Amino acid sequence: MRIAVLTSGGDAPGMNAAVRAVTRTAIYKGMEVMGVKKGFAGLMTGEFKKMCSRDVGSILSLGGTILLTARAPEFSSEEGINRALASLKKYQIDALVVIGGNGSQRGSNDLHKKGFPVVGIASTIDNDVYGTHSTIGFDTALNNAVGAIDKIRDTATSHQRVFVVEVMGRDRGILALHCGIAVGADCIVIPERSFNINQISEKIKGNFELGKKHFIVVLAEGAAKAEKFADALQLVSGIHASISVLGYLQRGGNPTFQDRFLATNFGVNSVQLIEQKKFGYIVGVQNNHVVHIPMEDVATNIKPIDENLFELQKYLCI
Ligand code: F6P
Repeated sequence: MRIAVLTSGGDAPGMNAAVRAVTRTAIYKGMEVMGVKKGFAGLMTGEFKKMCSRDVGSILSLGGTILLTARAPEFSSEEGINRALASLKKYQIDALVVIGGNGSQRGSNDLHKKGFPVVGIASTIDNDVYGTHSTIGFDTALNNAVGAIDKIRDTATSHQRVFVVEVMGRDRGILALHCGIAVGADCIVIPERSFNINQISEKIKGNFELGKKHFIVVLAEGAAKAEKFADALQLVSGIHASISVLGYLQRGGNPTFQDRFLATNFGVNSVQLIEQKKFGYIVGVQNNHVVHIPMEDVATNIKPIDENLFELQKYLCI
């Protein structure tokens, strides 16, 4: 049996750990492994490379992805999918492992619906894949953001200043919500909840009157841009806020223990699924147990926000 593996969409710390686990598990089980460069883009153009155990040596601790990745919107067209299927046929691939987030797994589902044997692995710093409590890269991105905001707090406190820190997450606020709680943000703004700039400015004034020395807003990029948010605050209340956009700092670096562990388990499990001929599933995790989520569910559902978590912040930022 010959399988292929690719990483797709935004790179996420732990992708390499998953590539290593897929490659070595498959080789152990007597399969041949081909790595596809640059995700679905390389799948369409046929950029395949045979993978040996040594090719994935010493990558467990590396951020990014040795297979390279790409955004490939053209893959969602009928022509793109057919080109990918032609490459898979040319290289005699029996099954494909796709390591990526929502957009990538929609691509996996398209291939699956065409009858090609695919297994997905949930991997994105946004942690917005339906049916899994966590995705590869989320924990590292969280830790990157938390470390950065802890440093920003030193300046905010020293200058008794308001800071608006914009974090990634695309159109979702899951990363911002978790990170906001872990840094003790005074206000968390996410796209899943409306916000009122007047109420926020009242809260800023109230908190400073209560003796607080800083006010940190953790703002999800999907809710507003930091600059616009700070401008609105200035306009409504005359309060000046410094801004910091964490951007790609969140996405790189060595994966944490949790991401290496998750990625390794997901990688091994994806090959076990192939062995059992159980295709059309995304490997994820729920309550510390690996789960298999139907690709169709991932493609058609939106992961809900944790209501309790959002409620919880109001007890803490007083
Ligand atoms: O999906 C991961 C992510 O980092 C999002 O949080 C962000 O909105 C997006 O990718 C940025 O995409 P790109 O790398 O294409 O600029």
